[in-house]
Amino acid sequence: MSKDIALNKIYQMDCFNFLEQLDNDIADLAVIDPPYNMRKANWDTFKSENDFFNFTYAWIDELIPKIKENGSLYIFNTPYNSAFILQYLVSQGLHFRNWITWDKRDGMGGAKRRFSNGQETVLFFTKNKKHVFNYNDVRVPYESQERIEHAKKKGILKNGRRWFPNQKGRLCGEVWHITSERHKSKVNGKVQKLQHLTPKPIEMIERIIKASSNKEDIVLDCFAGIGTTAVVAQKLNRNFLCCDIEKDYVKIARNKLSEARKNGHKRA
Ligand SMILES: C[S@@+](CC[C@H](N)C(=O)[O-])C[C@H]1O[C@@H](n2cnc3c(N)ncnc32)[C@H](O)[C@@H]1O
Repeated sequence: MSKDIALNKIYQMDCFNFLEQLDNDIADLAVIDPPYNMRKANWDTFKSENDFFNFTYAWIDELIPKIKENGSLYIFNTPYNSAFILQYLVSQGLHFRNWITWDKRDGMGGAKRRFSNGQETVLFFTKNKKHVFNYNDVRVPYESQERIEHAKKKGILKNGRRWFPNQKGRLCGEVWHITSERHKSKVNGKVQKLQHLTPKPIEMIERIIKASSNKEDIVLDCFAGIGTTAVVAQKLNRNFLCCDIEKDYVKIARNKLSEARKNGHKRA
């Protein structure tokens, strides 16, 4: 892998230095939640849109060789930025799988000349078509419980065959209704200060890791923030390779990991 980078630790490093030190074809899955150029923190502020996309395409170039040939890549961003990132990934020969719309259940107020923002995008790409996809592990509850209760007993006649609902729920679609951490934090409607500006919900990362990796696989996240990917990977018995440039976030991430280990998630 690298003589200086070990599995299952969080490094305080710039993503370019980190990726440079990894062997090629090391990761089964990359879960990447990079800057969005929203200008809410220094690490998310670029001189221009051009600078932002140059930075984005540069880390993508470094990242792609680190993903195994049958590996998968998920990239978070705004819908606008994702439109450009999608084109870039296609131009680099990756295979488009899904444009996942994350409905954050958290309307941002104030838009008077357009509709309010309430979604982010997760692009799902693979390097070839032999990737892992554990669709049975990420089933979600059926919408209409009444219809399903009825179907459980006698099935529903569809094209001459009886269909019975799957006990684990329906196949997961590409619109994900998952409440943002910001919205969850609200007390009497007021947003509370979080440990990170934009932490991703655990359940969202869990869905990605369960669907696109197996136990003992290696999950890479080079914008790890307060360690959501690492914590989930550890819980699900995957290995992780993680870094973030901000010292304070890395400290929180390390504490979370050791807390989780104390509470029974095993990785050393
Ligand atoms: C959107 S946040 C990731 C949040 C993370 N998914 C979580 O749940 O905590 C992006 C992260 O990228 C980090 N970052 C920005 N520029 C970086 C760089 N050049 N190298 C490594 N990390 C960087 C920031 O410190 C920030 O924590």
